[in-house]
Amino acid sequence: MDITLLAKEITQRSSIEVSPKDVERLLGALRKARLPWDVVDLSDFPVPAVFESIRLLEEKGLLTVSENGFRLTQEGRTLAREVHPLEDLSCPACEGRGISLSRFSDIEKRFLRIQKGRPKPVRNFDQGYVTPKTTLFRFALAYERGDVVGKDIIILGDDDLMSIVLGLSGLPRKITVVEIDKRLTDFIQETAEKEGFQVRVETFDLRHPLPKEHVKAYDTFFTDPPETLKAADAFIGRGIAALRSTGSAGYFGFTRREASLSKWYELQKMLLKYRIVFTDIIHNFNEYVNWGYEEETKAWRLSPVKVKPKRNWYRSALYRFETLSGFKGNFKDYGDENIYEDIESSTT
Ligand SMILES: [Fe+2]
Repeated sequence: MDITLLAKEITQRSSIEVSPKDVERLLGALRKARLPWDVVDLSDFPVPAVFESIRLLEEKGLLTVSENGFRLTQEGRTLAREVHPLEDLSCPACEGRGISLSRFSDIEKRFLRIQKGRPKPVRNFDQGYVTPKTTLFRFALAYERGDVVGKDIIILGDDDLMSIVLGLSGLPRKITVVEIDKRLTDFIQETAEKEGFQVRVETFDLRHPLPKEHVKAYDTFFTDPPETLKAADAFIGRGIAALRSTGSAGYFGFTRREASLSKWYELQKMLLKYRIVFTDIIHNFNEYVNWGYEEETKAWRLSPVKVKPKRNWYRSALYRFETLSGFKGNFKDYGDENIYEDIESSTT
C-alpha cells in the first residue's frame, strides 16, 4: 500500500489537502490510540479528513471500526511499522511550551481558585476555552517576551480569562476586554472588583470594526479566533488595528484540528499583508477543556464511533507576532455574516 496514493485519495474524498506526512502521523496514532478523539489529537490534521481517512483505511482492509474504537488489521500494522513511529519527547515540566510558571506561583494559586466559578461555554459563540494552566502559561510567555509590564493590553474575546490573570499580576498599565458574551463580561467585572484590579470591559461583536477609541491605542493584544480565514481575519485584523507602534505584539491560537497546512499558508499570507512578522509558533501550546456540547457538533456527526472524549483532545498552536513600520489593521465590516464555518471546521 502506497502512502502517497492514500494521501491523494483522502484529499480527493474530503476536499481537504492531506499530505503523506499527515497519513504517516495518522498511522503512528493508530498504533497508540483507539478512540476517535485521541487519534485526531495525535494525527494533527482536520477532523473531517481524519475521519474520511478512517473510512478509507477500513474499506482497504487496513483497519476495523467497532464501538471500542479503531484497530489496525495485520496488514494495517505492517504498513504502520514502515513509517516513523509517533513519540512524544516534549519536556514534561512545561509540556513542550518552553516556559516556566514558577515565578508566578502566587498568581497561579489565586487564578486556579477564581476560575472555578466561571461561566460554562455556549455553542452560539464557539466558546471552547483553554485550561487555566494554558492561560497562565500564555501570561508567562507574554511576560517573558516583554509584552506585559507597563503595557496597555486589549483582549478580543476573553473566554480564556486572560484579563483576570493580567489583572491579578498587577503588571500591565491598562487592561481592556471586548467580548460578546455578557455572562463573561459580568464575571470578569465582578472578579476585578473582588480582587481589586482595574479592567475596562465592553460588550462587542468582532464582526464589526473596532470603535475609534481602541484604534492604535495598545501595545499588546490577545485573541483566540474561530478557525476560519474570515474569522481569523476579523479577530486578528482588529487586534492589529488596536496596536500602537512598531514592535507591538499580538498573540492568537490556531489549530490543525480544523485547519490544513494549506489553510495555515493562507492565514500566514493574509496576516503578513498587514506588515507583521511571526516571531513564535509553539505547537500544541493551547489545550482546550472539552466543551460539553460535543454531541451537537459536526465532528460528532462525522465520527465513525460515537464516544465522548475522555481527556482533552483539542489543542492549538500559539502564534506571536510583532508589527513592522507601515503596519495596518482590518476595518472591514462583516455585518451579520456567518464567518465561523468552512469545510475544514467541525466543532461549531
Ligand atoms: Fe520545559
